[in-house]
Amino acid sequence: MMIISFISQKGGVGRSTLARAAAVESIRSGASTHLGDLDSKQQTSAKWAERRDNAGIFPVVETGVYRRHDVVMKAANSYECLIVDTRPYADASSLDIARQSSLVVIATGTSVDDLEPSLLLGYELMHKGIPHNRLLYVVGKAPSLAEGRAAIETINSWNFICINNFLTFKAGYSITLDAGHAITETPWKTLNRRARNIVHDILARARQSGN
Ligand SMILES: Nc1ncnc2c1ncn2[C@@H]1O[C@H](COP(=O)(O)OP(=O)(O)OP(=O)(O)O)[C@@H](O)[C@H]1O
Ligand SMILES: [Mg+2]
Repeated sequence: MMIISFISQKGGVGRSTLARAAAVESIRSGASTHLGDLDSKQQTSAKWAERRDNAGIFPVVETGVYRRHDVVMKAANSYECLIVDTRPYADASSLDIARQSSLVVIATGTSVDDLEPSLLLGYELMHKGIPHNRLLYVVGKAPSLAEGRAAIETINSWNFICINNFLTFKAGYSITLDAGHAITETPWKTLNRRARNIVHDILARARQSGN
């Protein structure tokens, strides 16, 4: 089973947004996929999947809420791909799931306030034994193109691997999520293209690092 976990130090940086899109695009690629929501308090991904079901949107995203990483792993055992959306403030459970992941995606914002803890999280994960090439940074919610590009430069200058593309902050994305769609399924072609490029890149890298 391929496991992709979405982790971040700070909240609200687009972790659940990327996880939901990764689940949808993985299903579209033909892989049986489970979306495990480890953020059992907020249940962002699970509630979104419920909105999606209620609106009758396809493909259906099979989702469960879990408090423990070992339980989500057991529950998803029969799937080809497990996408894990974690709690903010990467804690012990996030670390355990990161250890077992083919790819750990670290979502981050663009400001120094967001970037610094994200980069320190990368060091911490490496220190705890997660290989450098299994860590992938993704910049979500960039307020402008310049800030998105600058954030990628900073991440690269710390020698971490970063997707060479970023999400800009767009009302079109949040409206779409509210309606139960993923950010790759908006009514706008350019928004979809941008989101798909990023998510397909994440899936391709996860397959490469394989498990
Ligand atoms: N690129 C974007 N443009 C506009 N809105 C976005 C974008 N990405 C995410 N959002 C919105 O920002 C909010 C936070 O995003 P999300 O839930 O993905 O972050 P998170 O890191 O999982 O947060 P939390 O710490 O609460 O779990 C959501 O309301 C979502 O709809
Ligand atoms: Mg979340």
